[in-house]
Amino acid sequence: MTRINIAIDGPAGAGKSTVAKAVAKDMNIIYLDTGAMYRAVALKAIQSGFDTRDQVVLEALVKDIDIRIEHDGNEQRIFLDGKDVSGDIRTAEVSIGASNVAVNPAVRIKLVELQRKIAKDNDVVMDGRDIGTYVLPDARHKFFLTASIEERAKRRYYEMIGKGMSDITISQIEKDISYRDKNDSSRAFAPLSKASDAIEIDTTSLSEQEVVDCVLSHITNKNE
Ligand code: DC
Repeated sequence: MTRINIAIDGPAGAGKSTVAKAVAKDMNIIYLDTGAMYRAVALKAIQSGFDTRDQVVLEALVKDIDIRIEHDGNEQRIFLDGKDVSGDIRTAEVSIGASNVAVNPAVRIKLVELQRKIAKDNDVVMDGRDIGTYVLPDARHKFFLTASIEERAKRRYYEMIGKGMSDITISQIEKDISYRDKNDSSRAFAPLSKASDAIEIDTTSLSEQEVVDCVLSHITNKNE
């Protein structure tokens, strides 16, 4: 049986998760947010008092980590060692930590194995940094979303304010995003990059619905 695999990659704040969720809902398939997995590893490191850049510690930490994903309709919940951490992984500290732990090959290999298994067992829209290039290189549909850094910081700011976080500023978020952009694209193993066969969409001046429509129309056209 051929699975539907849709890869949506791009930097932080480019609109990947909103678009991936809407596309999954429209097509009645599951949405997998792979960033949440790197966030869960970072959360574990932070809670254990470790530096998220300590490569030796990370290798040991990831050996017996238990990360589980559940889908409740269109919503994904992530469990770390049996506990639902879907809310705890959304802080600014965990965002930076996730970008740090994502450099480690042992961490990536472990999480990619889980991601590939989910894609083998389900029709899925997967968002991340390396889905089209590394996790699912044979995915039939690949998209790469971008937006200006100012727009991405603004979106993230309002998203975090909407979640009740008040201790943040747009300029701090812009700094954090810029750190992550550099870190994510310069790592040696499976960096953030556009697959040569991915369709690039600059979402800076597009509404969410316009991006969703654009993605869905590319999928329909290619399937015809
Ligand atoms: O998508 P996000 O902001 O939740 O991702 C958090 C970090 O996790 C991101 O800065 C880099 C890392 N990540 C990755 O390296 N590969 C992925 N497929 C997804 C996320």
